[in-house]
Amino acid sequence: MIVLGIETSCDETAAAVVNDGRQILSNVILSQLDQHRPYGGVVPEIASRAHVQYLDSIIKQAMDEAGASFEDLAGVAATAGPGLIGGLMVGLVTGKAIASSIARPLIAVNHLEGHALSVCLTDGIQFPFLLLLVSGGHCQLVEVTRINAYHRLGTTIDDAIGEAFDKAAKMLGLEYPGGPAIEKVAHKGDPTRFNLPRPMRGRKSCDFSFSGLKTAVRHAVADLGDGRLNSQDVSDLAASFQTAVGDVLVDRTENALVDFSSRHTRNRVLVVAGGVAANSYLCKRVTALCANRGFQMLAPPAELCTDNAAMIAWAGLERLQLGLTDPLDTPARARWPLSDMKG
Ligand code: KG4
Ligand code: ZN
Repeated sequence: MIVLGIETSCDETAAAVVNDGRQILSNVILSQLDQHRPYGGVVPEIASRAHVQYLDSIIKQAMDEAGASFEDLAGVAATAGPGLIGGLMVGLVTGKAIASSIARPLIAVNHLEGHALSVCLTDGIQFPFLLLLVSGGHCQLVEVTRINAYHRLGTTIDDAIGEAFDKAAKMLGLEYPGGPAIEKVAHKGDPTRFNLPRPMRGRKSCDFSFSGLKTAVRHAVADLGDGRLNSQDVSDLAASFQTAVGDVLVDRTENALVDFSSRHTRNRVLVVAGGVAANSYLCKRVTALCANRGFQMLAPPAELCTDNAAMIAWAGLERLQLGLTDPLDTPARARWPLSDMKG
C-alpha cells in the first residue's frame, strides 16, 4: 500500500511517497528560506504564492522518484492544519484534486500528528509514548495513547520555542532561521556570562514560557550598546540563551515524565520531534534527563524533524488503515490543536 503526502503548512513545499512497510520511497522538500530570509521570518503571502508555483513539480518529482503513478496510490494525504491558511489551502485542494481524479480517499492530516507519528515511521515504535514537540510554531508535551487519542500535558503560554530562538537570533544580528544560527555560534560562547531567567522553572505544571527570556536577551543586548556587539558577545549571549532554554526544557519535561510514569509502567519512551529537535545541545540535555528517569529518548533523523511530507504521508497511511478518511469538503484549519482530535 502506498500513499502520497503533501505538506504546505509553512515555508516548505514538500511531497513524499511512503509504503506500509515503513519505507520512504521519495521525500522531496523545496525550502523557501531564501525568499523569506530578507524579511527575517516567514511572509505568509510569499509562502502561498510559492506553494502555488512549485507544488505541481514537487509532487511530480516525488512520484517519479518513487517510481509510482497516481493509479498506484491507496490514498492521498495532505496537511489540513494547523499553519498558514493560504499555504494549507494550496496543498489541501491539490490533494483533493488528485484524490478525486483517481477515485481514492483523501486523508486530511493534522501537521502535529505528522510530527507525533514520525518515529512510528522511522523506528516502528508502539503506543503509548510521550511526545515533546518543539518547533517554530509549537512547544508542547503530549501523551500519545493511540491515533486520535492525544492528551496535552503542557504547552507554551506565550512564544513557541523555535520562535524564541528566531527572535533572540534577530536581536543578536544573526540570520533567519535563528535556531541553527544560535546553535552554531553558541559553541564558541561562555554560557555563564549572562544570567538569564529560567521562566516557569520549579512550577508544578508542564507549561512553558519564553517571552521573559526573550526580553532578558533584549535588555542584555541594550546594556552592551545596541549594534555594538562583538562576535564574542554574540557567542556568549547565544550560549547563555541556549543553556537557559535547556534548563527550562529539562525542568518542564521532567514533570511530564513523572506524570506519564504514574500512568504507564511499560513503554517509557520520550519522542522529541519538530525543527528544534535538530539542536544537538538540547537533545543531549533531554537524553540525560531521560537516562536519569528510566526513559528511552527517540528523535527522528534531522531531515524528518523539520517539516517534511514523509511524516504527512505516514500519518495519512496509518489513518487510512484505520478507515479514518475525510470528505472532499474538509476545510483547511489555521488552528487545530491535537487534543481536538477525538477517536
Ligand atoms: O518544525 P519546523 O521545521 O517548522 C515548524 O513547524 O515550525 O521548525 C522550524 C523551527 C525554527 O524556529 C528554527 O529556528 C528551529 O525550528 N530550529 C532550531 C534548530 N534547527 C531548526 N532551533 C534550535 N536549534 C536548531 N539547531
Ligand atoms: Zn512542523
